[in-house]
Parts: sequence; C-alpha cells; structure tokens
Amino acid sequence: MIIKPVIQGVVARSAHPLGCQQAVLNQIRYVQAAPQISGGPKKVLVLGASSGFGLASRISLAFGGAKADTIGISFEKGPSEKGAGTAGWYNNVFFRQEAEKHGLIAKNFVGDAFSSEMRKQVIDYIKKEFGGHVDLVVYSLATGIRPNPETGELWRSSIKTLDKPLSGPTIDLERDVMLPLDVGVATEDELDATVKVMGGEDWESWIAVLSDAGVLAKGCKTLAYSYIGPEFTYPIYHRGTLGKAKDHLHKTADVLNQTLQDLEGEAYVAVCKALVTKASVFIPAFSPYILSLFKVMKENGTHEGCIEQMQRLFTERLYRNGDHVPVDNARLIRMDDWELAPETQSAVAALMAEMTADNFQHVGDYQGYKQDFLQLNGFDFAGIDYDMPVDMAFLMSLRP
Ligand code: NAI
Repeated sequence: MIIKPVIQGVVARSAHPLGCQQAVLNQIRYVQAAPQISGGPKKVLVLGASSGFGLASRISLAFGGAKADTIGISFEKGPSEKGAGTAGWYNNVFFRQEAEKHGLIAKNFVGDAFSSEMRKQVIDYIKKEFGGHVDLVVYSLATGIRPNPETGELWRSSIKTLDKPLSGPTIDLERDVMLPLDVGVATEDELDATVKVMGGEDWESWIAVLSDAGVLAKGCKTLAYSYIGPEFTYPIYHRGTLGKAKDHLHKTADVLNQTLQDLEGEAYVAVCKALVTKASVFIPAFSPYILSLFKVMKENGTHEGCIEQMQRLFTERLYRNGDHVPVDNARLIRMDDWELAPETQSAVAALMAEMTADNFQHVGDYQGYKQDFLQLNGFDFAGIDYDMPVDMAFLMSLRP
C-alpha cells in the first residue's frame, strides 16, 4: 500500500508510519542533545501521550535526562483493512520501541481515558508491574467530547465567543486557502459542556482515584497544559468558551495543589506557546495569528515546537534539582514568555494588519505551518520515499 497525505479541511485522514517514526526519533535526538533535566521524575503517567504536548512530555522525560519509565494513555486507531491507522498509534509504537532499547519501561494503554475501566487497568498495572507508584502525572488530553461518567451521555465542546459573534479568517489546509468563518455566541449549555470537556473535572477525578488507590508517590507532582495568548486573540480564546474551560483547569490546579499537600505533592498548569497540533488547527480565526507568530519567532530565533517547549519546561521550571518552581502571580508556569514578549507581539500585530486571503502564504509562515501539520501525520520528511509501498502485514504486527 502506498500512503499519500489525505486532508479534509483541517483533518488528516491518513498517516505515514515511517514519517511518524522519524518524528519520534527527531524529538528524541533533540532532547538528548539539549540541556538535561536534573532531579526529574522516575515513574510518569501521561494522559494524552500519543501526540502534541503529551508525546513531547513523554519523550523529554524519558530521553532528556530523567530516564523516566512512562505509562501513556491515548485514543488511537491501529492499521486494519480500512486504512493504515492514526499517527498517534505509530508514535506509541515507535516511542515504546526506542524506550525499550534504552532499558526503559514504556507501557501504552489505548482507549478512553475518561472511562472508569481505564482508571482500573492503569492502577492495576502501576501496582503489579510499575513499582507501585508514579511521581508525575501529566494531563494532556485534547478532545471535543467527553462522556458524562454517570449517564454516559456525551458532552460536546464548542469553540465560541461569550459576548458577541465574530468573523475571522481560517485556513483550509486541504485547499491552501484562507476563508472567512463566523463564530457564534455560546449558549449557557454549550459553555457548560465545553468546561466539562476541557476544564479540570476529569483531571481532578484521575488524581482522586490514583490517590485513593495509594499509587501516588510522596512528593508526586501533576501538571496540565493551557493557553492564554495575547489580547487580540482574547475574543476567540481567552474570553471565549475555551478560555472559560482553561480558567476551570487553572482553578483545579489550585485545588489539587491543596489536596496533594498530605503527600507533599504539587499541582501546576503550564501555559504553553501556540503551536500546530491535531487539536489547535480547529480553533477558528486563529490561523493569521499563528502564521504571523511563527514568522516573527523564527526570524528572532525564539521559535519552539512542542519538544523544545517541554524540554525547557522540565529543565528550567518544573525540575530544578529541588528548587522552587517559578510561577506568575496566578501560580501558572509561563512557557509562553517568549511568545508574549512585547517586541514579538508588536511585530506580529504589524504582520497581521497586512495579511489578507491573497497574501497570507507570503506574509505569514504558511509553509512552516503546513509542514508542521503534514509532519504531525508523518509526511514531508526528507529521506522518506513516499512512493514506496508500505508493508501492511508488517504494520499490523506492530503493537503499541
Ligand atoms: P493533541 O491533539 O496533539 O493530543 C491530544 C492527546 O489526547 C492525544 O494523545 C489523544 O490520543 C489524546 N486523547 C484525546 N481524547 C482521548 C480519550 N478520550 N482518551 C484517551 N486519550 C485521548 O493535543 P495538544 O495540542 O497537544 O493538546 C494537549 C493540551 O495542551 C491541551 O490541554 C491543549 O489545550 C494544551 N495546549 C495546546 C496548545 C497548542 O497550541 N496546541 C497551546 C497551549 C496548550
């Protein structure tokens, strides 16, 4: 089977296993050569481990100095008669292979992280095969739906504003065009459902269940990821439904920080940089900002991808040989410091003012944006022959 990129709007419908392997190897090489984490965790659970920030966290913690054993939970599809499977499936496969080559445990659970069944399986595994405890829990799920744990009914998130509708340009990656998109005002129910899906409730529930089961080590830390962004993106993000869900996540970190006191544990939210991931390309009216930001930060030499952000987070913020974790006055770890630097933001604002549907490919870093999107799915890596057929029987023999 020859696998070519198939894009529908902003969704990739195909993934190339060899490119996913390359992406994992590149990230491993990056953290191996970067300044190393010292005093890091040894036993880590990552929820949402197969792509974006969760995968980068896992790679950084395993290969960037801490040599951590990891458990990764993700929701992915393997190869079948219908197709080659999702990128995250192969990221899991190849991460595990590399970790095991280095003598590290890398256990993957593929299924619904919101379910009680998953909680049971993971706790059982920690008790029986993972040494009994974890000393870091990374919560990096990104999804549009979450089942109500009591009724099974689905909550669905909506990316909407809270005061007035807006219209903003959005990129269609399939056709390489920028199109206007209307974003409506959320109803009360839509806002509540978004907070249920993307707020901190499930994170809090996981920590409670792990704590009750006695599998959190003394001094255990937990971490989730957030975004705030500059003021001109507030209408769609920070002051919209997503921002409200993130406010809930931030408050949850404070609640968890209290409940973990008995274990001398800590809970944090790290506010990260805007990046291209499977989840972020969905955010309407956001692409002109990312295109301008990438262009400016690359020119300034301050651009980072998920892996650079995570390695900096663990070396310079979360683990500093027992030193305190630097936070802002809302107790947030700010990994968006370079993004929000005033000189960066004024250059970004100038580019955005120039950007139109006719010139966005030149004014902003569209090439970089599209390449990131393709590479998330294993395409556009030099050195991989995409005309070569992939052996499906071999792919089906690979286990996550
Ligand atoms: P992503 O889409 O790359 O990764 C999401 C992960 O969640 C995948 O491993 C996926 O398999 C897993 N997942 C989704 N639903 C699941 C389920 N029901 N059960 C088990 N696993 C499930 O997302 P990304 O962008 O890395 O997002 C992670 C966090 O980082 C989110 O909280 C997001 O808001 C935050 N963030 C993202 C930024 C960006 O620009 N992409 C910027 C700042 C924060």
